[in-house]
Amino acid sequence: MKKLIVANWKCNPLKSQEALKIFKGTIAVASKSKKAETVICPPYVFLKEIIAAAKGTEIKIGAQNCFWEETGAYTGMVSAAMLKNMGCKYAIIGHSEARRFVKETNEEISRKIAAAAKSGLIPILCIGENRGERKENKTYEVLAQQLNEGLLKLSKIDISKIIIAYEPIWAIGTGDYADPIEIKKAKEFILGLLKKMSGAENTGKIRVIYGGSVNAENSELYFSKAEMDGLLVGGASLNPKEFSKIINSASY
Ligand code: 13P
Repeated sequence: MKKLIVANWKCNPLKSQEALKIFKGTIAVASKSKKAETVICPPYVFLKEIIAAAKGTEIKIGAQNCFWEETGAYTGMVSAAMLKNMGCKYAIIGHSEARRFVKETNEEISRKIAAAAKSGLIPILCIGENRGERKENKTYEVLAQQLNEGLLKLSKIDISKIIIAYEPIWAIGTGDYADPIEIKKAKEFILGLLKKMSGAENTGKIRVIYGGSVNAENSELYFSKAEMDGLLVGGASLNPKEFSKIINSASY
C-alpha cells in the first residue's frame, strides 16, 4: 500500500494566490511518486480553487474539519456531506488544535467521524498525549480513551477504513519530535486496540500515520524505523521544496 503524506496547512496562507503557489510547487513530485499518495488539506476558503487545480493530478484533497449535521440552522458550520460533494476525499477530525482552541470533545469528534464516514469522506482521526500526560506515563491511557470515545459511533467496517494520525501534542510545532521506536510502539498499541474494535478480519487496511515537527531531515526515519503508514505534516508542508523532499522520503 502507498504511504499517505498529508499536508495540514492549518490557518495558512493569507491569500488564495499564495495557496495556489504552494499547491503548484507540490504537484510535480506528488504526481510522480510511486510510493506516496499526497493529500493537501487547505483552509475551507481555498478548497474550491485547490480542488480545481488538483484535477488531472495525483493529489487528493482533504478538509481540516467538518460538522456532523448535513444541512440546517448551524451558523458557521460546514458539513461532511458538503465537503464530499465539492470533491474532498479526506477530513482531518479531532486535531489537537481544534480540541484546544474550540474545545472539541471526544463526543463531538465521534459525531464528526460518523458523519464523515456516512458521507463517504475518509476520516483522519488525530489522537495524542500532551507533555504532562507523557511525563505521568499516561500516553496509552489517553490514546485508548480518544480511540474508544472517538470511534464509538462507527460500525466495525467503518473502523477498518479509518486513518489514525498519532500526533503527540508536545511534538507539534515545537521541534521536539518523538523517538521512532516510541512511535512504533504507539502504532502497535493503536492497531491492537483497533483490532479488538473492528474485528481481526477488518484490520488489514487501517493506516496509522505520524505527525509532529516532521521535516525533510527527519521524515525518512518515520518510515524506516517507526514503520509508519504515512505522515501528517504541518509547518513543513507550506514550503513546496521541503514538502517535496518529505514526499520523496516515503519508502515501503
Ligand atoms: P507541525 O508539523 O507544524 O509540527 O504540525 C503537526 C500537525 O499538527 C499536523 O497536523
